[in-house]
Amino acid sequence: MKNMMRRSATLFIGITVALLIASCKAGGDKPGLEYAPNMYHAVAYEPYSQITDPGAGSWLTSIEYEDGHAEFYNSNSLNPYRMNMRMPPAHTVSRNKANVLPYRLPKDSLAIAAKIKSPFEGVDNAQLLADGKALYTMYCTHCHGAKGEGNGKVATGVTIDGVERSAYAGVANLKGDAYKDITEGHIFHVITAGKGLMAPHGSQISQEDRWKIARYVKTLQK
Ligand code: HEC
Repeated sequence: MKNMMRRSATLFIGITVALLIASCKAGGDKPGLEYAPNMYHAVAYEPYSQITDPGAGSWLTSIEYEDGHAEFYNSNSLNPYRMNMRMPPAHTVSRNKANVLPYRLPKDSLAIAAKIKSPFEGVDNAQLLADGKALYTMYCTHCHGAKGEGNGKVATGVTIDGVERSAYAGVANLKGDAYKDITEGHIFHVITAGKGLMAPHGSQISQEDRWKIARYVKTLQK
């Protein structure tokens, strides 16, 4: 008798533990219970999560909210649709901090790109050219040469520590007749998307820096 009672007690505890563990599972429509949910649900507005149910999370605390919503509510009642982020005004495109519009022309649109005006059109300050020169020196000189003549060390080949590095053939002489009349837009597009043997530099150099380089290349050509 004693033995049987002990056995059923063990069985009872075993089943209870198994049920408890099984009930911890979350998935599908069943989110499960969160431990310390305040850690996951920010009190601040979050741009990409919007909880509009004023009662969401009310089970969590007994705090009375002045504005009548509970812990997880996360919407901005001042914005349209109670969004946390505002919609940009209709028919507008946002510029970056340097007042430059986004650039999305694909590689094969050089002819159109060449007509695009630099955002620095009309700006002719020494700082712009000084920046352009520094950037050109960093990104272009090793191929195109300090004066744009197509004779950088990569273009001519060089011997480093006794090892001969062969020349990267075909680097353009930017002072040549063929390039004399290219526009800043053209240069900007070539830097961005590359052309022929020249690889694109769009991912390495910011848009405004590319325009600065283009301006500097024009002064080199003079
Ligand atoms: C790895 C070497 C290399 C680097 C770095 C490089 N270029 Fe070039 N560039 C070339 C080559 C090669 C060509 C010739 C492309 C062709 O016609 O096949 C060229 C061509 C050009 C042209 C002429 C495009 C045309 O219309 O034919 C311009 C303008 C130019 N580069 C500007 C730049 C500027 C500005 C930089 C720096 C941001 C730069 N390049 C960096 C190798 C380079």
